[in-house]
Amino acid sequence: MQTYLRGRDLIGDLDFSKEEVETVLEVAFDLKRKRATNEPTPYLRDKVLAMLFFFSSTRTRGSFEAGMAHLGGHAAFIESKTTQIAHGDTPKEIGEIFGRYFDGIAIRHVDWGVGNKYLNEVAKYSRVPVLNMQCDVYHPFQCLADLMTIIEKKGRDLRRKKMVVSWAYAASYQKPMSVPQSLVLQMPRFGMDIVLAHPPEFRLMPEIMEQAQEQARKFGVGFEVMDDMEKAFQGADIIYAKSWGAMVHTPDAEKGAEIIKKYSHWITDEKKMALAKPDAIYMHPLPADRNIEVTDGVMDGLQSVVYDEAENRMHVQEAVMALTMS
Ligand code: CP
Repeated sequence: MQTYLRGRDLIGDLDFSKEEVETVLEVAFDLKRKRATNEPTPYLRDKVLAMLFFFSSTRTRGSFEAGMAHLGGHAAFIESKTTQIAHGDTPKEIGEIFGRYFDGIAIRHVDWGVGNKYLNEVAKYSRVPVLNMQCDVYHPFQCLADLMTIIEKKGRDLRRKKMVVSWAYAASYQKPMSVPQSLVLQMPRFGMDIVLAHPPEFRLMPEIMEQAQEQARKFGVGFEVMDDMEKAFQGADIIYAKSWGAMVHTPDAEKGAEIIKKYSHWITDEKKMALAKPDAIYMHPLPADRNIEVTDGVMDGLQSVVYDEAENRMHVQEAVMALTMS
């Protein structure tokens, strides 16, 4: 068991080794049990987390804020527009200065081609851990919560389980591709066979695909890519279908929106779910475009585990904060 995570950043999914992720999960399960039995968990008494948001959030803000309170500390919500960042505060200033005020700096910055670079620049100058609340490349805490949820529903031996990571249609906006990228990087390490399905224009970043395929080879699991949602769903144990933008194909948002319109049939509905195994689970990080991206019947149906996923965000985040910020 790798327990020494004090002072570490979590920006990319592979920043923690498989053994370190296992430690995070063990601590998260313990924290979940303690919360259920009302046992106090004051591991971060008097510690303060800065939560710097460049983009909106429901779950991430709520779960980090509640998590810090459960650990006996405090989380400071900082909306970037209310800061002096627009007037000249650079990532160096944020890293140097917030690193002196706070015991951890959590950042959400999903702007394409900007967010991940920003987090890494802050981390370079920060003396305290930098935690990625989602950037343009990764969403590591979502992925850890997803892994915890899969273990709860499917057991610890996930070898030969078929996990489908599928693109889905959504008209609201070009969503970041960080969730599918985190999933294809992390899940092969835990034995699942990955099937990635998306229309041709929605490919993931080539460097992420290379790393994901390398992980799949290293851990001896399957890794298939296809452009057929129905075919992908066949015989699956885990369906994870969500929308993301066509940023790799075109950085032009208007062109991307035009492309999305071609694929409105990529909706997760009851007919497609019936192609998966009868005990398959349906996963989504939320928010979802209801009855566009996924039907109410699937989202609110017996196979859906979306609320457990959302809850587990809090437990894995508490675990990482307790391990890195204590
Ligand atoms: N899944 C997720 O990150 O949700 P929010 O965007 O609401 O934080």
